[in-house]
Amino acid sequence: MDSSITIQVANASHIHYAEEICYEMEAAAKIRGTGIAKRSPLYVIEKMQQGKAVIALDGDKFAGFCYIETWTHGEFVANSGLIVKESYRKHGLARLIKQRIFDLSRELYPNAKIFGITTGLAVMKINSELGYKPVTFSELTQDENFWKGCQSCVNYDVLSRTNRKHCLCTGMLYEPNQQSPLPEGGITPPLQMERGLGGEVSKKSKKKKSWKNWEIHLRWLRFKQFVLLKEKTVFSLFF
Ligand SMILES: CC(C)(COP(=O)(O)OP(=O)(O)OC[C@H]1O[C@@H](n2cnc3c(N)ncnc32)[C@H](O)[C@@H]1OP(=O)(O)O)[C@@H](O)C(=O)NCCC(=O)NCCS
Repeated sequence: MDSSITIQVANASHIHYAEEICYEMEAAAKIRGTGIAKRSPLYVIEKMQQGKAVIALDGDKFAGFCYIETWTHGEFVANSGLIVKESYRKHGLARLIKQRIFDLSRELYPNAKIFGITTGLAVMKINSELGYKPVTFSELTQDENFWKGCQSCVNYDVLSRTNRKHCLCTGMLYEPNQQSPLPEGGITPPLQMERGLGGEVSKKSKKKKSWKNWEIHLRWLRFKQFVLLKEKTVFSLFF
C-alpha cells in the first residue's frame, strides 16, 4: 500500500468529499448489479460530523470510506457503506479501512455486537479476520429500519418470501465477549489463516486449509444462490 495514503476518522473538514463518496457507492452498486440502501451526501456528512466514519485519502484525493450505524438502541453496530475507489483496489486498502472502523466501533460502543450482511467475498474474508462469524439472520438486529434498507436491493423478493430467514447475503456477527483478543498491530494475512481455522498448523498447511475453507464457502454460496433464485415452489422443497 502506498505510504502517502492516510486512513483517519472523518470530521467536518472532509464534508466536501460527500458527493464523490455517494457517487462511487452508487456506481459500484450498479456494476455489481445489486441495489443498496441509497445514501445521500447529507447522510454521509452527518456521519463525518459525528465522528462515525473513516476516510482514506491519497494526499487530498479520495480513496476509500466506511461509516458506523447503530441499531436496536445501540445493542448492534454495523460498519456500512464500505467503498474503495477503483484505482486503489486490490492493495489491501479495504482491509485497513475495515480495521480502523472496527476499532472505532469498539471504542465508541464497547459492548455492542458488530454485524454486517454481504455477498462480497472480500468483505467476508476481512470480517472473518476481524473475528466475525457467519450467523443466521435471526441473530442479527431485528430493527425494522435496518431491514427496510434491503428494499432497494434487486434480491429483496427473496428476503420477503423467506420471511427474512434467508437471502443471498451472508450475515456475519462479532460478539465482543466471545472473542480471543487480536494481537497488537491488528490483522495480518497469516492471522486471517489462524482466525479462519484455529489451531496451530504450519504456514503452508494453514494457507492450503484456508483456501479449502473458502472453496467450500464459495460452493455453499453458489448453491444458496441457485436455490434462492429459483421459483417459489422449487425453493420450498429445500427450506
Ligand atoms: C469490496 C472492496 C471494498 C474491496 O476493496 P480492496 O481494497 O480491493 O480490498 P483489499 O485489497 O483490502 O482485499 C481484501 C481481501 O479481499 C480480496 N478481494 C478483494 N476484492 C475481491 C473481489 N472482488 N473478489 C474476491 N476477493 C476480493 C483480496 O484478494 C484480499 O484477500 P487476500 O488478502 O486473501 O488476497 C472494493 O472492491 C469495492 O469498493 N467494491 C465496491 C463496493 C463494495 O462492494 N463494497 C462492499 C459492500 S458489502
